[in-house]
Amino acid sequence: MSIFETYSNKFAKSLEAYQRAIRAIPTGGHLSRDVKPFPVSVYKANGIIKTDLDGNELIDYMVGFGALILGNSHPEVTEQVAKQVASGTHMGTLNPLETEWAEMIKKLIPSAERVRFTGTGTESTLLAMRLARAYTEKNKIVKFREHFHGWHDYASPGAGITEQTGIPQDTLSSTLVIEPEINALKQTLETRNDIAAVILEPTGGHWAQYPLQNPYFLSNIRDLTKKHNVLMIMDEVICGFRISKGGAQSKFSIMPDLTTMAKIVSGGMPGGAVAGRADIMELLSFDLESDRVDHHGTYNANPVSAAAGTATLKIIDRDPINERADELAVRLKSGLNEQLTKYEVEGHVHGTSSIVHILLDVECSCDGNMCTLDHSEITRSAKKYGPSMKIAMLNEGVDMMGGIGFLLSAVHDENIIDSTTESFGRALKAIRDEGIIN
Ligand SMILES: Cc1ncc(COP(=O)(O)O)c(C=O)c1O
Repeated sequence: MSIFETYSNKFAKSLEAYQRAIRAIPTGGHLSRDVKPFPVSVYKANGIIKTDLDGNELIDYMVGFGALILGNSHPEVTEQVAKQVASGTHMGTLNPLETEWAEMIKKLIPSAERVRFTGTGTESTLLAMRLARAYTEKNKIVKFREHFHGWHDYASPGAGITEQTGIPQDTLSSTLVIEPEINALKQTLETRNDIAAVILEPTGGHWAQYPLQNPYFLSNIRDLTKKHNVLMIMDEVICGFRISKGGAQSKFSIMPDLTTMAKIVSGGMPGGAVAGRADIMELLSFDLESDRVDHHGTYNANPVSAAAGTATLKIIDRDPINERADELAVRLKSGLNEQLTKYEVEGHVHGTSSIVHILLDVECSCDGNMCTLDHSEITRSAKKYGPSMKIAMLNEGVDMMGGIGFLLSAVHDENIIDSTTESFGRALKAIRDEGIIN
């Protein structure tokens, strides 16, 4: 039986659910992502086990697209959320939890002098860009190719294939997409005087799928932006509270002017935040009449997200959560490499902290920490093998990120990691037996 036939049999009820869903929702559902021939329908998730409609148990390496570093429904977080739901979900005025949440962010994120909450990571980058334009009185934002900052009109260019559809040309032209190379930035900043900010993913584009290739990239950006009076926005939506308690800026000792957050910051509930220098953040102040940066949002800092976020950040502050997830990632990387060797498949495993990527049918001589493969090689491999690896691993009961990688939590464990690497070996064999890879 082919991997796709095995999949259709194993997930028969998910297929029925998908056929019903696409009659009401384009793509069948927002979180389905692009899984062909159809995505799995999951109705329950606890810790790192998800249960689908057919009763299959899947090991979760999506962890809420990175939000759930404590796994699904962590008991302490769930308790706080349940308490808050019972005490009210919207106060329509200040709520003390919002301040506690902001104080936790200030404690963990070195550059956070002030914090403002948003509804999502997309809203966070939108607000940070607006603040940067208002502060510098300049209009253009520089972003790097393949760095992802959400789906709003100013973040979309340079982040995907159909990133320009539906966006006005004028809006597109206010975002300058450049190669993620320091010389490209140097040239841009030296030749233009209309740049408000540079925004970047500090571990490399698309949750480190396209790693930064220069160990001094972040410090070089910091130096250049300071020299040219341009703001540096560090997008810590993925790496904040993951690659260290204080995110990338703490791990690499770089102080951005503004930081954008979402995912872990709100503990598995919807929410995001922008933090940064007080003089920039104070542009949001109600005391400013004409020059104030306007920012609204019915559910920003809502008490339920505040309860989940505060509980999560307190656990991250208290326990070695990041260290544990990192340790498990090291074991996973070495297990995946062993399987590539065992099945004699050319491939490469790389990643930083608890983020792990695999690339098949490529050669890279790096040690797995700072992969030197060209952008186009990475894209080619991911597109060619990701879709079938996703299906082959689901057949094994493992839910990977897009068939190209894994996000770890602190509640995976050694046995789960070892069983995942065995599954990966069998999945490799399955796609090789089908002639998808040599
Ligand atoms: C680095 C980065 N920035 C921004 C976003 C957008 O966040 P959201 O999906 O919460 O809008 C994401 C989402 O994956 C992201 O990875």
